[in-house]
Amino acid sequence: MHEFRYKGNELYCEGVKISRIAKRFDTPLYIYSRKTLIDHYRKIKKAFSAIRPLICFSVKANSNLAVLKVLANQSAGMDVVSGGELYRALKVGVAPQRIVYAGVGKREQEIALAIKAGILLFNAESFAELGLIERAAGRLRKKVDVSLRINPDVEIHTHRFITTGRMINKFGLDIRTAEEIFLRSRIFSHLNLVGVHIHIGSQITEGRPFVLAIKKALHLIKRLKSKGVQLKYFNIGGGLGIVYRNERPQTADEFAQAVLPLLKETKLKIILEPGRFIAGNSGILLTKVVYVKKTPKKNFAIVDAGMNDLIRPALYGAYHEILPVVRAKDKAERKVRYDVVGPICESGDFLAQGRDMPIVQAGDLLAVMSSGAYGFVMSSNYNSRPRVAEVLIDKNKVSLVRKRESYRDLIRAEVIPKGL
Ligand code: LLP
Repeated sequence: MHEFRYKGNELYCEGVKISRIAKRFDTPLYIYSRKTLIDHYRKIKKAFSAIRPLICFSVKANSNLAVLKVLANQSAGMDVVSGGELYRALKVGVAPQRIVYAGVGKREQEIALAIKAGILLFNAESFAELGLIERAAGRLRKKVDVSLRINPDVEIHTHRFITTGRMINKFGLDIRTAEEIFLRSRIFSHLNLVGVHIHIGSQITEGRPFVLAIKKALHLIKRLKSKGVQLKYFNIGGGLGIVYRNERPQTADEFAQAVLPLLKETKLKIILEPGRFIAGNSGILLTKVVYVKKTPKKNFAIVDAGMNDLIRPALYGAYHEILPVVRAKDKAERKVRYDVVGPICESGDFLAQGRDMPIVQAGDLLAVMSSGAYGFVMSSNYNSRPRVAEVLIDKNKVSLVRKRESYRDLIRAEVIPKGL
């Protein structure tokens, strides 16, 4: 499943001892395994090989240039949601014709940038947005391909902040409105409405909601066809869940088996947008215990990574396994219940609560597992903490892929007005 394993009592990433990486680059630190990234990309590619889809890595999950480059080298396309993500994708040499652009709030400059770059298509989410793309395309004298993101209104079991396919969510167009827009598409002289896009949420471990959503989209596609609207693309989004704890998510093969028959029927070019499935288990956040503090109620392991470095536990109550980088020799060792907390001045600043772990002491290294997706990308400078470094491992080779920020970096863009 991933390349973070114990050899003896030491945790390794691929061929490298993690304690050695810590010595060289200090903590906190994100560590990614190149092999795990590639393995997961290939798992999806293989599972869907019968229809040769365009697999667009969802850049929001992990936008480090080296990570993107690893995937671009495998000929992955990219799913972007901002001008900044588009800039990164182009920077690593992804062909514009392999880039799709989603998001409810695209700004005119961002749209213009994407049109100029010649991306494959926009996934548009509202009538108003279509108007803006039409204007920008007109100004640039271009005809632009657009898919409509529909909101299939299906229920999924995941955190309420990461469901996107219910009608109460801000995403997509309801199916009736989307149908009307397709039928009236001639009003847009600079747009080709060429596809349907769905993305129902993230960390989805069961196949059912995908199948339901795809079926709803297929009904629309069929109705459109019967009314003379022939599409080219069907984008089924991302959302495949991974193992954080004891989930039993569908595998890429199981997922493909469930949806392939439906997709084949369409004869459309299929697009996938996996993020977490590719990057999630490919990375860890390495942190060091600074203090251990026992109170009448709890044991706190105070570590040097905080909610500003990995916000998922604080924001979603997400579970990340926490492993000692050096295991005690005695495997039957007694466990102690800890809250693993960071240095940020907020009680919400925790990486784990009530976690039974082998005894830790100051100086111990801990690996916060499955942090490769929505980890570093969601980090901030809160409490004026420089953002941490990122390292990529390729077999025995260790490469720094983002420098640790300095205090100077923290204030680089700030200005004190003269005469203040
Ligand atoms: N496509 C679209 C249009 C999306 O909005 C997303 C994720 C994806 C693809 C990729 O989904 P994935 O395969 O990674 O599930 N920060 C949250 C996750 C937010 C996901 C947002 N959209 C977390 O840490 O759990």
